[in-house]
Formats: sequence, structure tokens, C-alpha cells
Amino acid sequence: MNQVKRLFTKTFAVFIFLTLISSQGFLYAQSSNGEALFKANCASCHKPDEKYVGPALKGARDREPSKDWVYKWIHNTTSMVMTDPYAKKLKDEMGGVVMTEFPDLSNADIDAILQYANDFKPAGTATTTGPGGATSVSATPSSDNTVLYGILTLILAVVGLILLQVNSNLKKLTDEKDGIKSPQPVPFYRNKAYLLLLTIVLFIFAGYFLVEGAMGLGRQQGYQPNQPIYFVHKVHAGVNQISCLYCHGGAQDSKHATIPAVNVCMNCHKAIKEYAGAPIIKEDGTTLDANAEIQKLYKYAGWNPDTKTYDKPGKPIEWIKIHNLPDFVYFNHSQHVKVGRVACQTCHGEIQNMIQVKQFSDLSMGWCVNCHRTTNVQFNDDKGNGNKFYSIYEKFHQDIKDKKYDSVTVQMIGGTECGKCHY
Ligand code: HEC
Ligand code: HEC
Ligand code: HEC
Ligand code: HEC
Ligand code: HEC
Ligand code: HEC
Repeated sequence: MNQVKRLFTKTFAVFIFLTLISSQGFLYAQSSNGEALFKANCASCHKPDEKYVGPALKGARDREPSKDWVYKWIHNTTSMVMTDPYAKKLKDEMGGVVMTEFPDLSNADIDAILQYANDFKPAGTATTTGPGGATSVSATPSSDNTVLYGILTLILAVVGLILLQVNSNLKKLTDEKDGIKSPQPVPFYRNKAYLLLLTIVLFIFAGYFLVEGAMGLGRQQGYQPNQPIYFVHKVHAGVNQISCLYCHGGAQDSKHATIPAVNVCMNCHKAIKEYAGAPIIKEDGTTLDANAEIQKLYKYAGWNPDTKTYDKPGKPIEWIKIHNLPDFVYFNHSQHVKVGRVACQTCHGEIQNMIQVKQFSDLSMGWCVNCHRTTNVQFNDDKGNGNKFYSIYEKFHQDIKDKKYDSVTVQMIGGTECGKCHY
């Protein structure tokens, strides 16, 4: 009887322990309320210390018109954006993206979030200064702690197992001292507690991968294939500030953004045959031989840089497509870029800082729909003139003037109806 009871207690302890680990709750136990609130509500658009969809939150309060401004802002974003000069300026700086409002956050919650942002220190504070003080072009390191947490969890699990073992041995010793005959030792593979533990672990892992796998089918956030030429956006769109539309003009006027043809590259590279910029550090830490990449371009173009003639037949560069929506989804770039005035970076991330393009958003239905719920339709163009695409929505315009609503979201014009995105 005693033995059954002990087995039960032991199993129960193991179970509680595992639940704790798998929720990783105790790892976060130290983190503040501000951090939790930030991660739950704000992290999709803000980073503590750098510009993202919205401005960096570090020091926000010091930039703002008054200490209390932020409470009004977070509780009444949409109306502030229309009336408050500082809010209007912010919105323009952020490419017209409007923040979601949070009427339910208390002032204390907001203080806690801003405090968290002010105290925030980036994980790896590395500077990218190369030998001789020359700055180099490299990707911003991402702070992904998942692996670290995984390892910690594993170590803790092993420690836990050892402790359990020690505990049971001690118990055996005291039992023997008290003259209680210990039961036949059971080999560990027949020990019920361990078998149960193993089952639970397998169950959790299988469940995790099943769910992740099923949800991720056909999705590839973070996808970053090796391209036929090591083309660096940071060099072109970042350092040399070439407009995205110079190469992806389709994004403005058509459904597809399009990838530039070889002759577009050659507009510049007939003249630029050598790379003289800062060293380009690849993701694997080695330095890129940029001139060799320009020579690859010449091979594709059939261009002879010495005679400055096309002396061989050219062939197209077979770029690997990174973003892929399923065929049953309708997505139109010009509708978002030109009409909706959404910045490329809102959907694609900071491409101008990327060494190699990486898929930034998950392109899930939830991603599209959430943005349509929270983003306002832009009734005015850059110069404050009426956006002609919306003349059919005169009614909304009038309603805003009549103060029926502060603003109109994409959802209100039908942006969450199934038929708008599905053929
Ligand atoms: C949907 C994206 C989004 C979410 C979610 C979001 N914000 Fe914002 N936030 C923005 C944008 C964009 C701006 C810039 C103003 C604008 O364009 O509306 C901004 C501006 C701000 C500002 C003003 C910054 C300055 O420089 O003065 C503060 C403060 C702020 N947000 C705090 C928060 C907090 C706190 C949360 C979470 C409770 C939050 N935001 C959630 C997008 C977002
Ligand atoms: C000099 C030409 C050039 C400029 C300027 C340029 N791009 Fe590109 N872009 C390319 C080429 C070539 C590719 C295909 C190779 C690759 O993925 O890097 C590409 C790929 C992309 C992709 C991935 C396409 C896919 O396969 O799904 C995105 C997104 C993108 N660019 C966005 C941008 C944005 C945003 C800007 C401005 C900040 C920009 N590009 C500026 C030439 C350019
Ligand atoms: C509202 C979100 C959104 C915005 C804004 C946006 N894109 Fe895209 N982009 C996408 C999606 C979604 C795809 C995948 C489309 C597909 O597979 O049909 C994509 C694909 C691309 C591609 C691959 C070629 C193609 O057309 O499929 C390029 C290049 C690209 N975008 C560049 C840009 C540039 C440059 C801008 C800004 C001028 C921009 N995008 C703005 C969402 C966006
Ligand atoms: C508007 C002008 C312009 C266009 C168009 C252009 N480039 Fe460039 N490219 C540059 C400049 C400027 C540099 C940097 C030269 C330097 O710093 O010495 C560069 C550098 C490069 C490099 C060396 C660095 C790197 O990215 O690996 C390669 C390779 C390259 N370009 C390929 C391409 C390809 C492929 C295309 C077409 C898709 C293209 N370029 C289109 C202006 C352009
Ligand atoms: C960052 C915000 C954002 C994201 C993400 C986004 N959209 Fe949009 N979308 C907009 C805005 C703003 C408009 C309003 C432009 C307009 O009125 O046509 C819009 C309009 C549309 C419309 C026209 C709706 C109508 O009623 O006329 C369709 C269709 C659409 N989006 C499809 C998509 C799909 C599909 C995705 C995901 C792959 C997506 N959008 C992701 C912001 C977004
Ligand atoms: C704003 C655009 C948008 C709207 C509105 C929309 N969808 Fe989707 N839907 C998508 C995108 C994008 C995907 C592809 C998701 C993926 O690849 O993971 C998708 C995928 C799906 C799928 C395939 C299953 C899945 O999740 O991958 C179904 C079913 C679906 N949508 C049904 C609907 C229904 C029903 C409605 C109306 C209530 C609707 N959708 C409205 C964009 C939209």
C-alpha cells in the first residue's frame, strides 16, 4: 500500500514539474509585468530600441508633448491621429500606418510598459566596425532565444531526474535503517514513474510538432534561399538608396511587384564593374567576393566588360521566389502600395538592411485580416488632397465629417469579406 502511495506521489511530482517546464512559466517568472504586457500587446509593431512598424518605445515619453500625452494616445489613438499635431506627424513618419488603440490598459500598465522599454538592453550589443575602423555591411543580428530556452529546459529536466533518483535512494537508505525491507529493485525501464514520464514527454513533443507542422503547411516565414547571384539589398536599397520602385515598379501599378530583368541591372552595371564599398559580411560570417558576383551578372547578360559590348547571348537570372501565396488567394500590390499607402517595410520588414532577403511575415490569413481590422483607409494623399480611389466611398467621407465615426478601417469597406481575397 505504502509503495503505491509513494509511486503516486512521485508521479504527481514529476507531472507538476513537467507542466512547469513545458509552460516555461518559471523561466519568465522573473520578467516584469511591463515585459509581459509589452509582448502581449505591443511587440507586433514596436521594438523597445529600434524603429519597427511604429517608433522605438525607448525614450518615447521624453519626445512627446507632455508626460500624460501617452495615456490619451493609447486610449484614443484613432481620434488623436486626426486631431493632435504630434500624432499626425508620427503617423506620417510611419508611412500612414495607424496604431491600434488599447482603451482597457490602465495608466499603471502603460507606465510599466514604457519602463520596460526604457530599461531594455539588447541581447548582443555588437558594433559592426571592421578592421581599421572601417564599418562593414552586415545583417542586424536577430535575438532568437528559443534554442537557449530549449537547452535550459533540457538541463533542468535532467537535473530534476537526478534529484528524483537521489531522493528515492535516500528514502531506501532510511527505510533500511528503520528495518523496513526494501522492495525488489525495479530496472529503470520497468519503473512505472519513468515510463509515465517518458510518455508525457513524448506526448508534449509530438503535440507541439503536430500543431506547428499543420499550421505551417505551405508557409515559410523566415525563408531565405541561396540566390544565383549574391545580390545585396543593403548595398542597393540601403547604402546607395536606390528606390524600391526602380527595380520593383510593378508594386505601384500592378498586382505583382515583379523582379527586375537583367537589362535593368545593366543600366548601372555597364559602368559599375567593381565593388568599392564597405566589406559585405555574409550570414555565415565570411566576407563576400562582390566582384565575382558582378562577373556572374555579366555572364548572364552576355556582356564583355573589356570590349564593352554584348558579345554573347544573354540568359535570364533564375531568382528563387521567396514569397508564395497559395493560388486561391488574391493579393494585389498596387491596391496596398498605391491605394492603401502601406509601406513595403510593413509587410516585408527592413529590406534595405537585409544582406539577403528573408520572408518577414507569415502570409497567413490571420495576418491579412488583422491588418484589415486595424488599419484605416487613407482618404487623403500625401499632399492632403482627396485620394481619388475612394470617391466611391463619399458616404464614409460624409459620415466622418458628420462625426459618425473617427475613421474607417479596411474592414468597414469590406476588407474582411471572404470573396475579396478568395476567388
Ligand atoms: C498595429 C501596430 C501597433 C501596435 C499593436 C501598437 N502600436 Fe504603438 N504605434 C504604432 C505606430 C504605427 C505608431 C506611430 C503613430 C502612427 O502612425 O499611428 C505608434 C506610436 C506609439 C507611441 C508614440 C511614440 C513616440 O515616438 O512618441 C507610443 C508611446 C506607442 N505607440 C505605444 C504603444 C504601446 C504601449 C502599445 C501596446 C500596448 C502599442 N503602441 C501597440 C503601431 C502600433
Ligand atoms: C537594384 C534593384 C533592386 C532594388 C533597388 C530593390 N530590390 Fe528587391 N529584389 C531585387 C532582386 C534582383 C530580387 C531577387 C533576388 C533576391 O531575392 O534578393 C529582389 C527581391 C525582393 C523581394 C523578395 C521577392 C520574392 O522572391 O518573394 C522583396 C520582398 C523585395 N525585393 C523588396 C524590396 C524592397 C522593399 C526594396 C526597397 C527597400 C527593394 N526590394 C529594392 C532587386 C531590387
Ligand atoms: C500589404 C502587404 C504588402 C505590401 C505593403 C507590399 N508587399 Fe510585396 N508582397 C506581399 C505579398 C503577400 C507577396 C506574395 C504575393 C504572391 O505570392 O502572390 C509579396 C511579394 C512581393 C515580391 C515578389 C514578387 C511578387 O510580386 O510576387 C516583391 C518583389 C515584393 N513583394 C516587393 C514589394 C515592394 C517593393 C513593396 C513596396 C513598394 C511591397 N512589396 C509592398 C505583401 C506586401
Ligand atoms: C541604379 C543602379 C543599380 C542597379 C539598377 C543595379 N545595381 Fe548593383 N550595384 C549598384 C551600386 C551603386 C553598387 C555598389 C557599388 C560600390 O559600392 O562600389 C552595386 C553593387 C552590386 C553588386 C556587388 C554587391 C552585391 O550586391 O553583391 C552586385 C553583385 C550587383 N550590384 C548586382 C546587381 C544586379 C544583379 C542587379 C539587377 C537585379 C543590380 N545590381 C542592379 C548599382 C545598381
Ligand atoms: C499592413 C496591412 C495590410 C496587410 C498585412 C494586408 N492588407 Fe490588404 N489592405 C490593406 C489596406 C490599407 C487596404 C485598403 C486599400 C483599399 O482600399 O483598396 C487593403 C485592401 C485589400 C483588399 C481590397 C479590399 C476591398 O474591400 O476593396 C484586398 C482584396 C486585400 N487587401 C487583400 C489582402 C490579402 C490577401 C492580404 C494578405 C496576403 C492582405 N490584404 C494583407 C492593408 C493590408
Ligand atoms: C484579407 C484576406 C482574406 C480574407 C478576407 C479571407 N481570407 Fe481565407 N485566406 C487568406 C490567405 C492569405 C490564406 C492562405 C493562408 C496560408 O497559406 O496559410 C487563406 C486561407 C484560407 C483557407 C485555407 C485554410 C488555411 O487556413 O490555410 C480557407 C478555408 C479560408 N481561407 C477561408 C476563408 C473564409 C471562409 C473567409 C471569410 C470568412 C476568408 N477565408 C476570408 C486570406 C483571406
